[in-house]
Amino acid sequence: MKTQVGIVGAGPAGLTLARLLENAGIESVLVEARSREYCEARIRAGVLEQGTVDLLREAGVGERMEREGLVHHGISLQFDGERHRIPLSDLTGGRTIVIYGQTEVVKDLIAGRLESGLPLLFEAEAFALEDVESSRPRIRFRHDGGEHDLECDVIAACDGFHGIGRQSFPAGALREFGREYPYGWLGILATVEPSIDELVYSHTERGFALLSLRSHTLARYYLQCEPDEDLAAWPDERIWEELEARTGVDGWTLRPGPIVDKDVTRMRSYVCEPLCRGRLFLAGDAAHIVPPTGAKGLNLAIHDVRVLAEALIRFHERGDETLLDAYSDTCLHRVWRCEHFSWWMTTMLHLPPGGDPFDLRLQTSQLRYVTTSEAQARALAENYVGLETV
Ligand code: FAD
Ligand code: PHB
Repeated sequence: MKTQVGIVGAGPAGLTLARLLENAGIESVLVEARSREYCEARIRAGVLEQGTVDLLREAGVGERMEREGLVHHGISLQFDGERHRIPLSDLTGGRTIVIYGQTEVVKDLIAGRLESGLPLLFEAEAFALEDVESSRPRIRFRHDGGEHDLECDVIAACDGFHGIGRQSFPAGALREFGREYPYGWLGILATVEPSIDELVYSHTERGFALLSLRSHTLARYYLQCEPDEDLAAWPDERIWEELEARTGVDGWTLRPGPIVDKDVTRMRSYVCEPLCRGRLFLAGDAAHIVPPTGAKGLNLAIHDVRVLAEALIRFHERGDETLLDAYSDTCLHRVWRCEHFSWWMTTMLHLPPGGDPFDLRLQTSQLRYVTTSEAQARALAENYVGLETV
């Protein structure tokens, strides 16, 4: 089997890359280890930056997002029992965010790919990426009980944090940077009208909580917890009590409802450099991870593949490798900006280990500054909606 671009992983990065290449008339084959049902059900991100929304729309996969996505113009930061609104749009010349689940983005992209009749193989696990420093690299994968070879001009490893893309670099070729945080997020999805119109990030001495949503009938809430928290210790009543304790303010109470999903996510920051070797390119979570507090992971993955698609188009149309050579450096500027923003939001909002009172005072001081200084609020806002140039 042969193609121009072999793509490993049908998450947001791989699927979007395939779509951008399709629109430019470049062939690709996508191999995905999991089933279609699994990919479409994995609950993850919910906040799309303006740039992500524009790209999906321009790529011709934004129709349902336009109809069902909720446009938001602000978020709130809560501390010392009070909520303070950050008017994102007013502070960024009218830019907005859109609430539309990653599950829905993935469903739309898969439907588009299958409608075009182009190759997307589910339950096809890549187990080796070979000859990546030659002009004919190969993806070796298992599918339908057999082993197969996909010969390509270029491989895009969009295979997430646990994929094989990074592992296929020669020993010593990657420099890694990272941090593990001493806390996690317990997330719930509840079939109830969300109790908020805009996201609320809440700092308390009991720990952090986030009120988010997926639609007018689906709430998505999070509680700071231990990185290895046991879900068995969290019956629904305890979750609602704790959410109320961490987010309640005078004159407002949380509306509980049936919980249909619970999960625990560890928090880490991670970057590897460079993002490419020979004809192998890493994009999205395969190359970098951010803690979810800044809502950046999915948006960063989409930015990587936008840059990669432009470089691949130039290469296939004119044989010009300049943009491919610049891919890693171009992406890393934005990656590090988002790494910093996500780390900053995370360390400002989460209860530090042991609840160190000095750290707590610094956090509330910083939160007060961000919610009273326009310059500080604007810095948060422009990062949150997504910087136009980094
Ligand atoms: P993935 O989505 O991980 O996709 C990789 C794909 O590759 C998977 O389908 C996997 O099965 C496949 N794969 C792996 N190995 C192989 C192999 N060997 N062969 C074939 N296929 C393989 N981001 C935001 O921007 N905003 C948010 O609000 C936000 N909230 C989040 C909340 C939570 C609780 C979590 C966990 C994450 C959140 N994120 C958020 C982050 C976001 O979900 C990720 O950054 C995003 O999924 C990255 O997309 P990706 O395509 O790079 O990787
Ligand atoms: C979500 O809705 O899942 C969500 C929202 C904001 C974040 C992280 C996750 O910062």
